[in-house]
Amino acid sequence: MLTPVIAALALTSTVTAQCTRESLKSATQTLLSSYMSGSATSLSSPETIYTENEINKTITTGIFSHALKIAHNRSSFDTTQCATYTEIIVTDSAHPYVIGTQMRFDSSNTSLSKIETIVTETGDWLFNAANTLKYAASEDGLWGEIAAAKRDTRKVIQAAADAYLDVFNDKNVKVPWGIPCARLEGGAYTGKGSPNDTCEVGIPTGVVINNRRYIIDEVLGTVDVFCTFSGIADTHEFRIQEGKIRFVHTMTNTGK
Ligand SMILES: *[C@@H]1O[C@H](CO)[C@@H](O)[C@H](O)[C@H]1NC(C)=O
Ligand SMILES: *[C@@H]1O[C@H](CO)[C@@H](O)[C@H](O)[C@H]1NC(C)=O
Ligand SMILES: *[C@@H]1O[C@H](CO)[C@@H](O)[C@H](O)[C@H]1NC(C)=O
Ligand SMILES: *[C@@H]1O[C@H](CO)[C@@H](O)[C@H](O)[C@H]1NC(C)=O
Repeated sequence: MLTPVIAALALTSTVTAQCTRESLKSATQTLLSSYMSGSATSLSSPETIYTENEINKTITTGIFSHALKIAHNRSSFDTTQCATYTEIIVTDSAHPYVIGTQMRFDSSNTSLSKIETIVTETGDWLFNAANTLKYAASEDGLWGEIAAAKRDTRKVIQAAADAYLDVFNDKNVKVPWGIPCARLEGGAYTGKGSPNDTCEVGIPTGVVINNRRYIIDEVLGTVDVFCTFSGIADTHEFRIQEGKIRFVHTMTNTGK
């Protein structure tokens, strides 16, 4: 039996069984409507693996059981892996959240094989949904499609993210820092609005970031990495332009 999301994917990809940008976009719309309705029944099937903050869960017992009012969202589409990443900001004073979600589809039949979420809320590292909204919204238009001639390869995009994540444990790694560059970590922002803004500030040492799972979108120049940051559930999303890091967004579930 086809679940609704599979049916939606099938409808938008009738020409081939391959994953398309359009089918992935439609899947992220189903994801958003699932968050808004507080039900994942039109999204997942019993076979879909679900994790929340790196823990296996039944999808009906987690964040999808709350109807959320979404203040801001942004998605990226990995047609090579048949996968998506979505950033969701909920400023509702009843319960603010900032959520990152990766979805992975089986490329042969477009069924949703895995959903992974990082859910951050009050008490998590630097959490402040109102500030996250303010700074993320200030970057609207700066994460748009990159002209075809200027697009980086998947390899270059991933290498920039890996260099950034590696420098936390090895000062000798050369990171392709772009200028200007801003980091949005929880609700804290390094950008000052200057053309000279740099992300090369306050990098800790001795932090091992592993278990990396990537969603890469060459059209948007983005890579999202789900990872464990010294053992803690984390996502780092990067905007890369001409091989250089321009924006970084992080969510870290330090828990309470
Ligand atoms: C979570 O589920 C996956 C897939 O079913 C399994 O491989 C993994 O071992 C599970 N992890 C834990 C901690 O139970
Ligand atoms: C998601 O963001 C787009 C703009 O980037 C907006 O048009 C759309 O309405 C948003 N969706 C939801 C459910 O908030
Ligand atoms: C899709 O393919 C995977 C792996 O080949 C399989 O496990 C899964 O059952 C298939 N799903 C559907 C809906 O056919
Ligand atoms: C940016 O840096 C250049 C070169 O160091 C300097 O001349 C300029 O004043 C700086 N601009 C701002 C807005 O800080």
